[in-house]
Amino acid sequence: MAKTVEVLPDLASLIQRSLEITLAEINRAIAERGQCTLVLAGGGTPKPLYEAMATEDLPWEKIHIFWGDERYVPPSHPDSNAGMARQVWLDRVDMPAANLHPMPTDEADPTVSAQKYEQHLQHFFASNPGEFPALDLIFLGIGHDGHTASLFPHTEALHVHDHLITVGNKDGQPRLTFTAPLINQARCVMFLVAGESKRHALSQIFASQAEATDYPARLIQPSGKLLWLLDQPAGDGLKP
Ligand code: 6PG
Repeated sequence: MAKTVEVLPDLASLIQRSLEITLAEINRAIAERGQCTLVLAGGGTPKPLYEAMATEDLPWEKIHIFWGDERYVPPSHPDSNAGMARQVWLDRVDMPAANLHPMPTDEADPTVSAQKYEQHLQHFFASNPGEFPALDLIFLGIGHDGHTASLFPHTEALHVHDHLITVGNKDGQPRLTFTAPLINQARCVMFLVAGESKRHALSQIFASQAEATDYPARLIQPSGKLLWLLDQPAGDGLKP
């Protein structure tokens, strides 16, 4: 499906637009399938969206929260993506604990944790090895290097096509991440990108010719909806 690119005047309007879309996708998923499976991004850009979600009155028991990537630290660590989302949103709403599906980071070997999370997803979606379940809405960001989730340039994780979850590598630091094939199975993928620092990477991600190994967000070509929400410093004038 073609991508939609919206350039919003500033971060506040980008967040407001992302909230509108998120609520619409949640309501659609619940209407169609009785539940919504939502995949959170880490980093700083989505944090105001999570804070806004905490003020919404939603059927939280019908919403399941997963993470698209995680730094390999305990949930209490300041770098934890799950810790951030819990602090500003998930611990502030009446969401059943069973609906939170954080990536495990307690095994000495991150590969074991990746396998555990993959098995958890397969159990939740009743999918078989080799099948890629469709999650309803995946939030993503990009780094100034064009990475997304924890799919970093020139890393092995970019070439994993037979697993749902793999181990990413940021400057030698392990991370857990959805693989590109799993992200691409989603019904809706929404990128939130703000700031001048992302402009060059965006121009390469949108370019007709560029290497995905250099700009991994180019790997994200979902069969479902692909939405890019950009603020003007990041996206003004870019021709997708
Ligand atoms: C993470 C994210 C990562 C993030 C980008 C953008 O764990 O850090 O999943 O992919 O989305 O690095 O981060 P900012 O929103 O902080 O610029």
